[in-house]
Amino acid sequence: MKKCAKVWFFCNMTKYKGEKIKKVSPTIIYHLENQSYFHSSFVVFSVGYETLENFIYFCMSKNNKKMDSPFWQADIETMKESDLRKFQTEKLREAMSQASHAPFYKKLFKEKGISADTIQTCDDLSKLPFTMKDDLRSNYPYGMTAIPLQRCVRLHSSSGTTGNPTVVLHSQRDIDLWANQVARCMYMVGLRNTDVFQNTSGYGMFTGGLGFQYGAEKLGALTVPAAAGNSKRQIRFIMDFGTTALHIIPSYATRLAEVFHEMNIDPRTDTNLRVFCMGAEPHSEEQRRRVEQLLGVKAYNCFGMSEMNGPGVAFECTEQNGLHVWEDYVIPEIIDPDTLQPVPDGETGELVLTSLQREAMPLIRFRTHDLTRFLQGDCPCGRTHRRIDRLKGRSDDMIILKGVNIFPIQIETVLMSFKELGGEYLITLETVGNNDEMLIEVELSNLFTDDYSALEQLRKKIVRQLKDELLITPRLKLVSKGSLLVSEGKAVRVKDLRKY
Ligand code: COA
Ligand code: AMP
Ligand code: ZN
Repeated sequence: MKKCAKVWFFCNMTKYKGEKIKKVSPTIIYHLENQSYFHSSFVVFSVGYETLENFIYFCMSKNNKKMDSPFWQADIETMKESDLRKFQTEKLREAMSQASHAPFYKKLFKEKGISADTIQTCDDLSKLPFTMKDDLRSNYPYGMTAIPLQRCVRLHSSSGTTGNPTVVLHSQRDIDLWANQVARCMYMVGLRNTDVFQNTSGYGMFTGGLGFQYGAEKLGALTVPAAAGNSKRQIRFIMDFGTTALHIIPSYATRLAEVFHEMNIDPRTDTNLRVFCMGAEPHSEEQRRRVEQLLGVKAYNCFGMSEMNGPGVAFECTEQNGLHVWEDYVIPEIIDPDTLQPVPDGETGELVLTSLQREAMPLIRFRTHDLTRFLQGDCPCGRTHRRIDRLKGRSDDMIILKGVNIFPIQIETVLMSFKELGGEYLITLETVGNNDEMLIEVELSNLFTDDYSALEQLRKKIVRQLKDELLITPRLKLVSKGSLLVSEGKAVRVKDLRKY
């Protein structure tokens, strides 16, 4: 490591022109030692910067981010816990004031007699009511919006035509902050502006599309917005453009490996692939290792949901030991889904998130229904933001198939709109070859014929409607009345036989 007198002089200073300078962390010292642009004239600029880290960050951005620091925003990522809580309290009060402009929260806060003043410390968060997915549905489309529509620049919405979908709106500032959040995640796992990043997520309403797109552009990577499907074309892009990183869902990663094999290409030796940002559906450690081995990459778990922007809420660092939740963007809580009380530290429960910086649609104590736990101890990477364990499933009946969220009620609503069908049905999720699939078996009503071509026509019509509703294509089997095994008590409608 090269040593520089100026650096040591600077690092050992506790005051400059009467201004206190924060003690310099080892990472920053390392960083300073490696900055060729660091010279004494910068000392002048440093006055007025709250911490030395802030100043270094300023220097880095002035120099188009030299991209050799381990941190995208060192000051924020390594913030002392007490400072982080102070920051959150301040932002939470702002989020409460902002939320009170939305018709939904305005009414709710009035009913409950709460306001920004209810918050004195982060612990006061527990005094606030929860927000549910159903609140978004019943306030469809704009009842959760806290700014005039003309200031909103983007809307993302869930699938479905049968009930009210959910809608999330963003201002330009929200989009910029989200892009920064995703860029920070990508930088954390070693991606730089020299990388070629290909996104295999659906674009359009799926936040994994535009969310990663804007994040990767902010990072400065060369982006390939390939979108979902057409594996041979994906592979052609990977080969021709020298793709080094993919955003991919785990079940699709194994399908891609299969197509590589069919094309006689070894992704481990014949491509530049090195990093996968992998999420959007639950997966096990074994599945991650399998993907890493098959494709010769490091795969990092990325987590998010449309209600909290999308990808970037929490992300693994290179230690691969849990996902850092960006606590300057959200306050995470973990509650028991039955009692709604916080679970003891380290125990599994439902993740609840409060957005801290969103202006178009702030969400207070949003119940995600995702099950996880806080991991204990400090992360060796030096980031102070808490880590959650890989997601263990959901506390509701939402299914995630091929990265698409599906509620069984959506399927039931479509099926029940056909008078030719009876009341019993069974949904089986299975892995066929390397593809995850949904098989729906549904019984015919007494009234219906056994004419094969009429049945086939009916089957196709139902599949088309299901595809419109769900965005994936299920396999559908029409069975005779009474042939489905009806479970005793509460009907079991979904069997998940997928291999994780
Ligand atoms: N991502 C990318 N491609 C996928 C995929 C996924 N999650 N799941 C399947 N595919 C591929 C299939 O492998 C197939 O391509 P191939 O035969 O060339 O290998 C192609 O998409 C069509 O798949 P199929 O299963 O026949 O279609 P479907 O109608 O059931 O599903 C999709 C259609 C894939 C377009 C739909 O599931 C989708 O958009 N998934 C992506 C969702 C997403 O991006 N989620 C992220 C949210 S953050
Ligand atoms: P969407 O709003 O469509 O982006 O879907 C968000 C949901 O996808 C989350 O609430 C989770 O249930 C699931 N999800 C996203 N990322 C992951 C991940 N890394 N692991 C497990 N589930 C995930
Ligand atoms: Zn870490």
